[in-house]
Amino acid sequence: MAERKKMSVAEILAAARAEKAGGGAKPTPAEESAVSDSPEAAESPAAADSGAPKPAAPKPAGAKPAAKPAAGAAAGGRPSVKDILAMARKNQPAGEAAAVSAEKPAAAPKPAAPKPAAAAKPAASKPAAAKPFTSLDTASILASARAAAKPGPVSKSDASISPRPEKPRSAPEKKAAAAAPKMPMPKMPAKPQPAKKAAVEGEDRRGFLEIALGSFMAVGFTALSVTGGLFTLGLARFLFPNVLAEPPSRFKVGFKDGFPSGKVETKFVAQYGVWVVNSEVQGQQQIYALKTVCTHLGCTPNWLEAEQKFKCPCHGSGFYKDGVNFEGPAPRPLERYAIKVADDGQLEVDKSRTFQEELGQWADPSSFVTV
Ligand code: FES
Repeated sequence: MAERKKMSVAEILAAARAEKAGGGAKPTPAEESAVSDSPEAAESPAAADSGAPKPAAPKPAGAKPAAKPAAGAAAGGRPSVKDILAMARKNQPAGEAAAVSAEKPAAAPKPAAPKPAAAAKPAASKPAAAKPFTSLDTASILASARAAAKPGPVSKSDASISPRPEKPRSAPEKKAAAAAPKMPMPKMPAKPQPAKKAAVEGEDRRGFLEIALGSFMAVGFTALSVTGGLFTLGLARFLFPNVLAEPPSRFKVGFKDGFPSGKVETKFVAQYGVWVVNSEVQGQQQIYALKTVCTHLGCTPNWLEAEQKFKCPCHGSGFYKDGVNFEGPAPRPLERYAIKVADDGQLEVDKSRTFQEELGQWADPSSFVTV
């Protein structure tokens, strides 16, 4: 049994058929191709020993014992490809265990002892050449292939089992590494923060609301201020009523020489409402000031130089040069203002005093100035 020989799949199938002796049925070509293509056929090149049936090699945990396919073959039916492969595995050498199991019949194969899961992947951490020859299942072959193709651990379980040791550094190397100048790292630009953008949008909305409310309040306060100002102006207007700016009651009209005899001066009518007349009254040459108010209803008569009379345009009343009424509805003569010679020699008219002819007041020396 120590001598091993590699067998092809066809030889394995032939040996299995020979063991069954009349089991008889020749596998179909499809079955043969399936066997040749299956990874299980490839992983058992060492199952070439065609001697006595041997117990199967220990399998990983979870693998089913090979007794079931053997029992199925013993039932006399046509063995399936799976049964044939199981029987072939039982016949392959497997070190000492195979030597011990070679004396036992195939009908009572010893079930494989369950193996811990961590032991199913030794090929990932140890080189395949250091291992003794053992029967390899598909999982072991795949683990070996992954370990050869990828230097690092395949999974977390592999990493826990076989961590990669770091190469120890000597003291000079550590000193040199510590003394080596470090390259200055450039500063990375600050990344924009979208959260701030959202905060800025919120601040914009709050600012808009504040401005809108502030505008409404500003408009309201402005309207209230304008209303208060107008009320104050109206109150002041009520407290200070209109005062007509009237001309002074006394005014100077000039010297006597400026008023020739028989002349009616009309240049003071518009400003003072006075005619200054130099005329003979009852045999005496006088200068007097006539009031320009019609004694009928208060209109202002006009001096008609051609007709030598005052004519009221309202109702047609007429007055002589001395002011006595002679036509129209006027009930009485025109009135005189007080007149005198001022200190400077000019004639001064005082409108605060009037003199009426029907009352005999024209005889008052204050109502005329003699020439
Ligand atoms: Fe002068 Fe009537 S007001 S005539």
